[in-house]
Amino acid sequence: MTTNNRIVISSDHTAIQMRRAIVNHLSKQGWVVVDIGPTTEESTDYPRHAWEAAQRIVSGDCRLGIILCGTGQGIMMAANKVKGIRCGTCADTYSARMIREHNDANMLAIGARVVGEGLALEIVDTFLTAQFQGGRHSKRVEMIEKLEQ
Ligand code: RB5
Repeated sequence: MTTNNRIVISSDHTAIQMRRAIVNHLSKQGWVVVDIGPTTEESTDYPRHAWEAAQRIVSGDCRLGIILCGTGQGIMMAANKVKGIRCGTCADTYSARMIREHNDANMLAIGARVVGEGLALEIVDTFLTAQFQGGRHSKRVEMIEKLEQ
C-alpha cells in the first residue's frame, strides 16, 4: 500500500476551524487526510498533538503532516523534538515552497491566529506540491539529521 498521498493533520484548540477547512480542501483534491483531532474546542496542549502527528510521519503511515496552533510556533518547536521530523512554520507561500525544496521538510506548521484561511490554504497547497531538490541540499539535510544524534 502506498502512503504517498496520506497527510496527517492535527491542531490545538485555537485552530479547529482552520483545520476543518484544510481537511475539506485537501479531501476535495484527492489527498487522504488523516485527521487526528482534537474534535472539540476545549483547551488542549499543543506538544501532545505535535507528537501524535509526528509519530504518523516517522512510522511511515503518512508522508507529510500539517500542524496548527495559534502562532504555529509552539507546535513546530515540539514537532522538531521528534527525531526525523523537519517542520517549519510558514505565513507565506515562498517559505512553504522553500522548506520542501531546500530543507525537505516533512511537516508544515501554520498559526491560525496569524494568517487567514485563504492564505493558509495557499500555503498548504504550495507545501504539498513542492518537491525536494536534492543536490547540494541533501548534504545539509543530512547535517540536520546528524545534529539530532
Ligand atoms: C494557545 O493559547 C497558544 O499558546 C498556542 O496555540 C500556540 O500559539 C503556542 O505556540
